[in-house]
Amino acid sequence: MKVLVIGSGGREHAICVAFSKSSRISKLYCANGNAGIARVAECVSLKPDDIGGLRAFAAEHSIDLTFVGGETPLALGIVDEFEKQGLRIIGPTAAAARLEASKAFAKDFMARHGVPTANYVTAFSPAAAVAELETGAFGDDSMPVVVKADGLAAGKGVVVALNRAEAIAAINEMADLVGADAAEKIVLEECMFGREVSLLLFADGEGYSLMPPTRDHKRIGESDTGPNTGGMGTFTDRALLTDDQLAVIEETVIKPTLRGCQSEGFGFRGILFLGLMMTDGGPKLLEYNVRFGDPETQSILIRLETDLVDICEAMLDGTLGNLSIKWREGNSACIILAAKNYPAKPRIGDMIYGIEDAEALENVEVFHAGTSALTDDEFYTAGGRVLGVTASGEDLQTALSTAYKAAGMIRFDGMQFRRDIGK
Ligand code: AMP
Ligand code: GLY
Repeated sequence: MKVLVIGSGGREHAICVAFSKSSRISKLYCANGNAGIARVAECVSLKPDDIGGLRAFAAEHSIDLTFVGGETPLALGIVDEFEKQGLRIIGPTAAAARLEASKAFAKDFMARHGVPTANYVTAFSPAAAVAELETGAFGDDSMPVVVKADGLAAGKGVVVALNRAEAIAAINEMADLVGADAAEKIVLEECMFGREVSLLLFADGEGYSLMPPTRDHKRIGESDTGPNTGGMGTFTDRALLTDDQLAVIEETVIKPTLRGCQSEGFGFRGILFLGLMMTDGGPKLLEYNVRFGDPETQSILIRLETDLVDICEAMLDGTLGNLSIKWREGNSACIILAAKNYPAKPRIGDMIYGIEDAEALENVEVFHAGTSALTDDEFYTAGGRVLGVTASGEDLQTALSTAYKAAGMIRFDGMQFRRDIGK
């Protein structure tokens, strides 16, 4: 079978490595890939938002299965376009992708289906959002308020403002930060407190199968200081959620969401990513993503034992319930190695040493995110997040210490990483 993966980050490298382990695949392509992906797949220079080009490529090369990594092509309707041509593709339709592409849509959807979440109000212009705050209709000056751009914003569209003045400043700066389109509507939200957990699942419309619970570390600095990034490290740990919490999440979030999608005419097929806050009042949903997380995926897929092709077919055929998906026992961790000056203005072109030594360690995978290569084994930094050094282990301590041991074998000028992932 021929498979095409769409994307070029660490997440897509992890997806390609998982596919490359399948005995059922004769040819693996990735559009547009990166220097690490090129070692397991043939990279094709088509951008993820070139829906027409990707569809033509899949048709011409008789691709049996396409897997979409990121949200942009999903929001643009790549799944609808492929399905019209009878091409098999993993991911939600554009209608279902609105759960991520529009925060206002997602919040209204949660409200319609009784999914527990923060109180909110949607304003239809920045001026209206400021007015909501100034009139005191929403929020209280002594309380933090969360300001969110409605549209896709590559992680930059959320500001947790400590008071009303900061919230007004955030509203006024949002269009500059994320673009006028994404900031056309603004969602104001009550600030919730608690531990954050990411829970991802495979969904086939009606049925679903949970992946191991994950935690992301979003700030650049140790002890969660400094600006937000795409994610500086993750770990998987079943103990992030008790059995009771998991049962509550299934009943109050997952089942109402999948039923809600069906009742609104867009059954959800693909990867659903729940960003949860474990509050004193129980689990509440921060957000939906409609795809794998980056770098959650690196930690999750290193533990996957079942053939990813079998899981994809079950998602497409609506037969997830018949498949028992196996995960390696224990835990895993991913440490992001980032370039100098990330996240502001990452420097590129620094030579990377030691990848092969790190990869030679047992239970370690080094996933490439922003790298380029001159030869097969000479890599340079080519992006903000450069590598995701990922390890599995029998417990969290083992996974973390193995990942840090591997990370310690890699070096490049200006390399930054957090030493407190999983702490
Ligand atoms: P989101 O993209 O909606 O997940 O927001 C990014 C991050 O902002 C989350 O991971 C939280 O840390 C924070 N956040 C978003 N909404 C809220 C909220 N209502 N209360 C507290 N923190 C929030
Ligand atoms: N790591 C967060 C995300 O992929 O959205």
